[in-house]
Amino acid sequence: MNKKTARILATGAYLPDKVLTNKDLENMVDTSDDWITTRTGIKERRIAAEDQSTSDMGVIAAERAIKKSGLDKTNIDAIIVATITPDMFFPSTACFIQRKLGLTHIPCFDISAACTGYIFSLVTAAQFLKTGAFKNILVVAAEKMSAITDWEDRATCVLFGDGAGAAVVSEEKGSMEIGQFFLGSDGRCTDILNIPAGGSFCPASEETVKKRLHFTKMTGQDVFKHAVRYMTESAENVLKKSGLKIEDIDCLLPHQANIRIITAVAKRLGIPEEKVYLNVHECGNMSAASSSVGLDGILSQQKDVKRILMVAFGAGLTYGALLLQKLGEKNG
Ligand code: ACO
Repeated sequence: MNKKTARILATGAYLPDKVLTNKDLENMVDTSDDWITTRTGIKERRIAAEDQSTSDMGVIAAERAIKKSGLDKTNIDAIIVATITPDMFFPSTACFIQRKLGLTHIPCFDISAACTGYIFSLVTAAQFLKTGAFKNILVVAAEKMSAITDWEDRATCVLFGDGAGAAVVSEEKGSMEIGQFFLGSDGRCTDILNIPAGGSFCPASEETVKKRLHFTKMTGQDVFKHAVRYMTESAENVLKKSGLKIEDIDCLLPHQANIRIITAVAKRLGIPEEKVYLNVHECGNMSAASSSVGLDGILSQQKDVKRILMVAFGAGLTYGALLLQKLGEKNG
């Protein structure tokens, strides 16, 4: 019997129409284009319409991926959605996307791993495919970060953007195989990046809203430090497991939080900047959606990319790396 594989069959992405530039932000908070550009590399980001939810964006990306896959949507056996900005606490955003796609009776669930969510979700999907439990899985990473951003806090509001990306992942079709991975979390760091109120720990009240505790809070420099270390270690781990050297990687797809984090990781790994994929300048940090939109960007470029190394970190902290490799490529 042939060994079962997990492959990227097709991808899709969606970005909302509204562009929010650094100049626009200068009129909202005490900041400057120069500060944002030099500290983060971000020039602009997309913002969803007020009445547009995470599943509204996710379903568009999903429909684009399904169309490209050539599959009929009824061949999808499961839906996994990576998000920290779900439409509601429950039901899952995956169930909303299922409903909008008109699908029934398949398992649908969300994964909460913040910016590492797309890697966690692709790896989860791959396990179902490799065991033969399912044949085709829709993996979506979608975020409406604007809904959990404090637009009066200049330290965080300049960083985030909205968007969605999706992949149809298949057991037997598609040329890009989901290969070696490394996943990790460090729960000691739950305090440095979170939304303090609105959950069971501190339920929403007039007081929590007044104190703006339902928005993202971050100790930026701590996150920065951990991000560089954990992303580098995750990528190195996957290279080691795969028997590959950094020179064997055609494209590094890092989480797009900040150009300085990306540059520091690339330097430590020893990969030249022309091999590093970037969309942070035009999309900001879209949490889990950064990697999904990025992967669609790379695969749509039609370049002969044989090996992509994805690497990310996010609130939790969570971190991880994943190798995508053209089928038939030998390691080392
Ligand atoms: N415009 C102008 N000045 C600002 C702004 C702003 N938007 N924000 C902060 N400042 C000021 C601060 O008040 C401070 O002023 P002070 O020196 O008078 O006190 C000064 O700029 C420096 O602030 P720092 O916080 O030290 O700036 P730093 O160089 O650390 O950059 C940044 C901040 C960009 C947030 C950086 O720490 C960073 O990128 N951290 C990582 C964040 C990240 O990656 N988050 C992603 C995870 S998101 C997720 O998982 C959902």
